[in-house]
This record gives sequence, structure tokens and C-alpha cells, in this order.
Amino acid sequence: MNYVGISCGFHDAGLSVVNDKGEIVFAGHSERYSKYKHDKDLCVDFIKDALRHIDGSFELHYYEKPWLKAIRQLRAGQRPGPFSMSNIIGPANMDAMAIKRTGKIHTHVHHKTHAAAGFQTSPFDRATVVVIDAIGEMDSISIWDATYDSNGYAQYKKLWGRKYPNSIGMMYSAMTKRVGLHPMDEEYILMGMSAYGKPIYSDKISDEFIADHNNVEFMRNLHVGVEDDFLGADADHMDIAASTQVLTEHLIKTIMAKARYLGQSKNLVYGGGVALNCLANRVLGDYFENIWIMPNPGDAGNSLGAAALGYGKKLTWTDAFLGHDIKGEYPIDDVMKELYTNKMVGVASGRAEFGPRALGNRSLLADPRGPEIKDKVNEIKRRQKFRPFAPIILEEHVDDYFDMPRGFSNSRYMQVIARCRHPDLFPAIVHADNTSRVQTVPKDGSGIRKLLERWYDETGCPMLLNTSLNIRGEPMVNDRSDADRFEKLYNLTVCS
Ligand SMILES: [Fe+2]
Repeated sequence: MNYVGISCGFHDAGLSVVNDKGEIVFAGHSERYSKYKHDKDLCVDFIKDALRHIDGSFELHYYEKPWLKAIRQLRAGQRPGPFSMSNIIGPANMDAMAIKRTGKIHTHVHHKTHAAAGFQTSPFDRATVVVIDAIGEMDSISIWDATYDSNGYAQYKKLWGRKYPNSIGMMYSAMTKRVGLHPMDEEYILMGMSAYGKPIYSDKISDEFIADHNNVEFMRNLHVGVEDDFLGADADHMDIAASTQVLTEHLIKTIMAKARYLGQSKNLVYGGGVALNCLANRVLGDYFENIWIMPNPGDAGNSLGAAALGYGKKLTWTDAFLGHDIKGEYPIDDVMKELYTNKMVGVASGRAEFGPRALGNRSLLADPRGPEIKDKVNEIKRRQKFRPFAPIILEEHVDDYFDMPRGFSNSRYMQVIARCRHPDLFPAIVHADNTSRVQTVPKDGSGIRKLLERWYDETGCPMLLNTSLNIRGEPMVNDRSDADRFEKLYNLTVCS
């Protein structure tokens, strides 16, 4: 039996397949196939690619309880569509997945699915799980005790929670919209802006939004956003960003303290879209000794959580390279040649990353040394000038270059920021506050690991600049034809 987990219908549709040995044989994002960013629907090419990895029969597991969500939508004054599973998943998707043939669709509680995506991929046999997102069906924050029974089946006991409209994720999205960015997409830009501002509005935002800090109760429903001139039409956007970040971290600290007390485990599993806030994540080690954040903690990752709940036991976790496969050896020689001649190169090799971040298989890599490289990479990326790029570094060298926050001996999926110890040498990968969003690469024999080893052997530098390989406005490159289009458009070699 295989377990197919699906998250779709809202944003960032994902699909994951777990086999009867607990191996994750496929996990991916619909957007990479449809080329439509944050695609909420499962597209046919995506389903076909996933089906190639299914050997034998399968059960389908959906990432939330549709009827609970419909009740919340009614309560919020929204009109849910015609209410049936076919409507939610889409008739074409139902046919393509042969769901009708396999019969029942199992549904799971949204926050429990987040919890399972984290806990059942984690190295822990017991953990306190914290989920913070914008909204599930009704839940917006939850704390769980998670363990395995004597037969190896995961057990989840909910310890505490908050429901809509009390939501840190919705607050962050509302403030993202307030500064003119796209909510549910560009929250990471608001986070990046916060390094340039002063948190002069955090008390005012707190007074306007928060009814009870200790219990994380809001007095406003931020689902609809805030007024365009909230805090004043002339309020500096960087200050708004810094203020929002400070308040967010304050609330996260409150929740983590509660979780540590209620859960009584030293192990933290953290999930939900707010777990992507790598700046806030530096506080987690103040409350827990060991931390696991799955590389895809948002709703697309819930497809894996749903499959995990179907399988029931601990999954075999290797790495995040679980999507579309561009077959062949990792092109180390070709990449090195381009780095020497052009200082910058694209890589599209092996299986695509599951999660929002390029981790080496669909990456634009560059020599991080010196002052010119940031502008050179930005000729292609055209991002806001204030935003730095990320470093990817051999894990055993990370402490020589970065001060890792407490609780993080590594950051294999770019989960946390760390202070750079030599910002002058690497200006392209350092933010205004001298921090970097670090990715560490262990001795795992992966292609990106071998490339970094070779780069270090030949240059003495154990890191590269790493940013996602995508055509502007499109999701990350998925297959070789995307890489060909990228090469043509930007006149930059993409090695496979
Ligand atoms: Fe969620």
C-alpha cells in the first residue's frame, strides 16, 4: 500500500507519496509544473510525475477537514463553493489520480497534519510540537505532545491552542499588505525589510491588535487586512516591518515558553507557515535543546503530513530532494569551470527541492567573495537591492564563519539566520544587520556536497552564494526545458 498525501484548493498545492516501508518516494509542488506561482490546483503533469513513483495500490489522504473549513468560512462571512470532495480537489484531478477507483478519501485536521509532517520526519521519538500558521480549518496556533506507541504508531495529544481570528500568521500577512507587498507570498520580504527599520510602532500595533499577550488573543480580525493608512500614511515601511517582526517574535516567545512548560520535552518540532520566519527562529533555542523544522513547514508540506498520518509511523527522512528528477551525475566539472570563468552558474540536476528554498539542485550559485558579485547576480534576479543572498557552506566549517544561534548546530534547510563573523569578506551574503540565512551541508554524499568539497579544496573557501534558479515571476526551474528557457533568456549556463 502507498499513501498519497494531497494539499490543494487554497494555495501552494502539494502532493507526496509514502510507500509501505515509510520511504518518501515523491514530494513536490504543482507550481513547478504549471509555472503558475503558488498554484492552488494539482495540474495534470504534476500528477503524472507523481504517479510514476507509485507502485501498486494507494490510499488518498487530504490535508484538512473540508467541512470544518466551510463552517469557518461561513462564520467569517465568506461563501464556500459547492460542498463536495470533487469540488475541493477538482473533477479532472480526481480522474487523473484514479481516486474514484480507490474509493475513500481520508481527511485529517489541518494542524495535526502540520504536526505529523514535522514529527514523523524528525529524528525524535518524543517531542513537543508547535504549529503556528495563518489559519487551518479553525486553528491558528496549536501545541502537541507527540510520541510513538509500542507498535511504532505516532500519537498526538493536543495540549493548547488558539483559533481564528487569533492569528499571528494573519497579522504578518496583513502588515505585508500594508507596506504594498503581496500577502501569502512576500512575507519574507517584510522580514528582510525589518533589518533596516526601527520598531517604533510595535507598541501601537500591539495596542491595536492584541487583547491578551499571555494567551495570544487578538481584538481584531486581520483576515481582511488593515486600513491602507494604518499607522499613518507616511509611516516608514522599514519601521513598520521592524515593528511587526518585534511583535511577532514577542508572541512566538510567549508560545514557546508555554510549549516548553506544557510539553515537558527538550525536543521541539516546529511547523506551520510562520516557521519559515528564519529571523524569529533564532529565539527557539532559548526554550528547547533540540529543534527540527521540516524544510517545507507550510501548507504544501502538509501533503507529506497527510501521507505520514496515513502511514502512521516514523518516516525515513534523508533529504529534501524529493521532486522531479533531472537524471545524471551532478555536473561538478562544468559548474567549477563556469565559477572560474563567470563567477556565476545555474544548476538543474537530480531531484527538485520539496519546499520553498533552492538547496543546491535548482540553484543559481556564485563565488561569494568580494564586493561585485551581488550586483552581478542581481542583474538576473532583479530583487530589491537591500536583500542579500544566502550562503551555502560545508557544515563542519559553519562555526568559523557564522555564530549559530542556540539550539542550531546546523541549518540544513535555511531555517535560521546567523551572525556572519567576516561580513567584510562576503558582502553579497550578509544583511544590513550582518546576519545571513545560512544553509549547512552535511557529509551526505550529495552532489552539492561534492561540489562544495571541490570548491573548498581548490579555493580554500568553504561556501558559495546560493539563490533559487527561476525566471523572474515564475516558480523555480523544474525540468530541463525550464533550464533551457532560463539559459536563453539570461545568457547564463545552466549545468545538468
Ligand atoms: Fe497551515
